[in-house]
Amino acid sequence: MPDTALPAPTSAVTDRLLDAIRTIVGATGLLTDPSDTAPYAEDWRKLYQGRTRAVIRPANTQELAEVVKLCAASGTRLVPQGGNTSMVGGAVPAEDGSELVLSTARLNRIRSIDPVDLTLTLEAGVTLKAAQMAASDVGCLLPLSISSEGSAQIGGVLAVNAGGNNTVRYGNARDLVLGLEVVLPDGQVWNGLRRLRKDNTGYCLRQLFVGSEGTLGIITAAVLKLAPQPRETAVALCGVASPDDALALFTRFQAHDPPAISAFEYMSGPGMGFVLKHIEGATMPLAAPAPGYVLVELATPRPDAGLRATLETVLEAALEDGIVLDAALASTEAQRAAIWRLREEHSEAQKREGASVKNDVSVPVSKVPAFIRQATAACEALIPGVRVVPFGHMGDGNIHFNLEQPEEADGAWFLAQDHAIMDAVNAVVREFDGSFSAEHGIGKLKPYMMPDWRGGAELALMQRIKAALDPQGIMNPGKVLP
Ligand code: MLT
Ligand code: ZN
Repeated sequence: MPDTALPAPTSAVTDRLLDAIRTIVGATGLLTDPSDTAPYAEDWRKLYQGRTRAVIRPANTQELAEVVKLCAASGTRLVPQGGNTSMVGGAVPAEDGSELVLSTARLNRIRSIDPVDLTLTLEAGVTLKAAQMAASDVGCLLPLSISSEGSAQIGGVLAVNAGGNNTVRYGNARDLVLGLEVVLPDGQVWNGLRRLRKDNTGYCLRQLFVGSEGTLGIITAAVLKLAPQPRETAVALCGVASPDDALALFTRFQAHDPPAISAFEYMSGPGMGFVLKHIEGATMPLAAPAPGYVLVELATPRPDAGLRATLETVLEAALEDGIVLDAALASTEAQRAAIWRLREEHSEAQKREGASVKNDVSVPVSKVPAFIRQATAACEALIPGVRVVPFGHMGDGNIHFNLEQPEEADGAWFLAQDHAIMDAVNAVVREFDGSFSAEHGIGKLKPYMMPDWRGGAELALMQRIKAALDPQGIMNPGKVLP
């Protein structure tokens, strides 16, 4: 056995352990009724149906740390869970009932916010939406936005290093983290809640936990960087004939005013069709359906920047040159929200249409059109009739290359083809030096891909880090590492 291999957990969950946990978190902090625990044992996509004897809901970091200490002593496996919005089964417990779910939902306080330092200190259970609102209340912007922000919690968002719609401008979650508080697998609390812009004092431990998906410890609080709130925002939805035209439009905006691009999202015709079919109240502002769509958002904290004029100038020229087929500019906040809704409801609409296989991949931005073309051909050859639904964050090269089951196919049969489909797409990703997991993480769905993509020294190093921090292997077992 290599010295990095992790031992099997030592104990099953006993009534004694649950009683001891109850004395720490109180009766309201421990759910054991199967009807209460069931929603925590299944993922949002319903790919995994786990089982757990209990869901632990500590009220604060101290309680959470005490619980982890007890579980470490008994070798009990824990699955940290925030809003349970993972796309890769990153927060579901195992099927055998041997793991306890540790929910951060009640750690939901904003600890402090400073509009001069531009920092927000908050607990893991605050939803991303609530965090954005707290920032906006003091005239600042938390520049991170994802479709599931109403339910996704900060702890999970950081644990997976979420990306989302504003990465093109502000980077991923990782780029916004100044400090962290983490409960380690032995129950110690590491207080690294520093809010400094400069701090070169040894290894950058916080970045080890960001993106670790709860396998190295549980993030309980964080200090996030804020940005000045935009004074002006301009949004348009454009119809385009192809991903190539979408990219051409992106380069025009880049040439015009690069720092103003806060989102540049691509959507396919079929994906938009699902949104209009399944999402109540979704309406198309363009006169005719297009093969593809771009949502572009410009934003700036500068006063009188004239972003609407910029948007109009670039789009008028693009219309004239045939790069854009049609465009609708939002004139009111309601119109802006309605355009964003067409993008944000893509996953929900796809779920309602039937079984789907997701590929959350990234390639260099300049290669996105060629990637979409080649991956589409590969999937259509593999599964005749499959409906290809690429959409996502074109401005940073992250495409959700999702596939919807053929109309007449059996959903379970289609889902059983997932490895064949993902392998076919990943082969194209590899040709473009891309990544098989851009922003959703590895979770339970993709550890089998790790040896192939991150094998050799890289995976061995990850296994050594895991073994050093969590020698018993009790933190989110079966996730990330094969
Ligand atoms: C999104 O950007 O809406 C999600 O990350 C995508 C997905 O459902 O694959
Ligand atoms: Zn996304």
